[in-house]
This record gives sequence, structure tokens and C-alpha cells, in this order.
Amino acid sequence: MRSVKSSMKGWITAAARLTLAIVIVVQGLGLRAGWPQEPAEPRLDEEITKQEEIFRRRGAGVPRGYITDRGLADYAELLPTGFCDALGRLGSSDRWLDIGAGDGQAILDYYAPPDSAASAESCARSSAKASAVAISIEDRQTDKWRQRAGSLGDNRIRYLSGKSLRHYSIEELGKFQIITDVFGGFTYTADLSRFVDKVLNLLELGGSFYTLVPGVHLEGGDKLGTWYLTELENAAGRPEKVCSWLKKTTCVQVTCESKSDWKRPTELINIRKTCNDTSVPRMKLLEFKAGYPPDRRFQLEP
Ligand SMILES: C[S@@+](CC[C@H](N)C(=O)[O-])C[C@H]1O[C@@H](n2cnc3c(N)ncnc32)[C@H](O)[C@@H]1O
Repeated sequence: MRSVKSSMKGWITAAARLTLAIVIVVQGLGLRAGWPQEPAEPRLDEEITKQEEIFRRRGAGVPRGYITDRGLADYAELLPTGFCDALGRLGSSDRWLDIGAGDGQAILDYYAPPDSAASAESCARSSAKASAVAISIEDRQTDKWRQRAGSLGDNRIRYLSGKSLRHYSIEELGKFQIITDVFGGFTYTADLSRFVDKVLNLLELGGSFYTLVPGVHLEGGDKLGTWYLTELENAAGRPEKVCSWLKKTTCVQVTCESKSDWKRPTELINIRKTCNDTSVPRMKLLEFKAGYPPDRRFQLEP
């Protein structure tokens, strides 16, 4: 007859094996404490539909935090050092793409008449202006935009809407010396690596992408007690910084400016394309919660 002690030992071993099996399965599914542990796909679809509904809101329905009318002076403050000078250096045959342009106010300021207040901003100083393309999922063109586009003629400024960046072909948009994104696609996309890949394909050699990401782990270190909006992790599930991930891309030079004292820790990012064979390490979407901006979590694919 087996003793009580040996049957207890057997029971404990079985329990330990079961616990280990559960841990392995949970880790394999990429689940983590703090995120709701439901089947991922239907929840993601639901949240992405909610996000599209936020983009569509109009008038009083637009949430206060969803700002669509930042001007060029705001862009100069929010984008990395060097953006204004680079924009000022563009000539009339060059091209600027603003992804997630909202009302297109930054481009309107760039094209403001020379004697206006907006033109006094350093970014708008040069007399030769690049042609500019504004992209927004929802159409937020204003009468001001239509009038200015009409008076400039010759497609100097264009407003494209109705779909997100990934649905445009390179042939449709052409290539650009400067691409900007201020709380646009880079902050809102559910497919971060594909987004960056598309941006790099749209950049001319030597061209630059200027953007920012709010609520991320900063290259220069984090403050305690931060609420993160965009979280990245490596293939082993350990935190990955947005800048260290971007620096793994081939044929680019990435510069980051960490703003740890802003309301949300924010990374200002400049990506310069140095050769044509760009390749962005894939990030898989693990979690997406609609918002302005949304909460997102991605994991680097092995
Ligand atoms: C909060 S508004 C920002 C508008 C403007 N940049 C500003 O700062 O005032 C977000 C903009 O990003 C656009 N957007 C979000 N995701 C996008 C994507 N994947 N492709 C193109 N536009 C996108 C929205 O349609 C909207 O125009």
C-alpha cells in the first residue's frame, strides 16, 4: 500500500506539471496580466471598427482630444529639430506629404500669402514652395482649403481622403522629399511596421520622415508611473523601445529626441532614407483599444 506521504508527493508533482503547462500555453498566446484575456481577433476587429467611427465623427461629436487643425507653428514645435529648415530648403519642384493632415492647416500656413502672420513662421519663409499633398482618412477639407487650392492652381496643394495610407500605391502618390505625420497614421495605425515600410517607399533617396509618438518608452529612459499608449516588445516579450526597433531598419538613419517632461513621454523621430533597399522588422499587433489616440501593443516577429 502506498503511504500518504508518497501519494501527496505524486499529487504535488502533477499539480506542478499542470501549472507549468498553463504558463507555457498562456505565454505562447502572448497574453499578459493587465490586458483582457479574450480571443484576440474579434476584439481587435471590434476596436478597429470603433476607431473608424471616431474618425467619422463631425461637429459637436468630435471628441475634444481629437485635434485636426494644428498649424505650421504647431508642427514646428512638435516635430524634431531640423524640420523647419528642411522644409524651408525645398524648391518648387520638390514635394511634401502630410499623412493624417486633418484640416490641412499646416499646408495652408506654408502657402499663406507672404504678408500674413502664418507666413512669419520660420517654416514658411522661403519664397519657392514645394507642392504639397494632404492625406486624411476622413474628408476634413475646409472652404479655406478649397479656395486656396483653387487660387494656387496647378495641383500645388492636393487633399486626398477616403482611405488610409496603405491603400495608396506609389504610382498614385509619387515620391516626396519630406513626409510629416503629426498625430496621424503613425500614432493611429494598427500595423506599425507596414506603415513605416510604406512611408520609406514613398520617400526619395535622401528624403526625411518627421513624426512623433506620444506615450512610449523613451530612448533616454522613462519616468516612473507613466501610462503608455504604444507599447512594443521583442520576440521574447521584453519591452522594446520604438527607437531601438526603428534603428534595426536597413537603409535609414534614425534620430530620436526624447521629451520626458511633456504631458505624455513623447519621442520625436526623424528617419532619413540613405539607400533604397529598406526593410522594416515586422511588428505584430497584439492589442488595440480605440481612442484619440488609441492604446496599442505590438510584438517583434522572430
Ligand atoms: C488627430 S488628427 C491630426 C490632424 C493634424 N495632423 C493635426 O495635427 O491637426 C488625425 C488624422 O490622421 C488621419 N489618419 C489616421 N490614421 C491614418 C492613416 N493610416 N492614413 C492616413 N491618415 C490617417 C486621420 O484621418 C486624421 O486626418
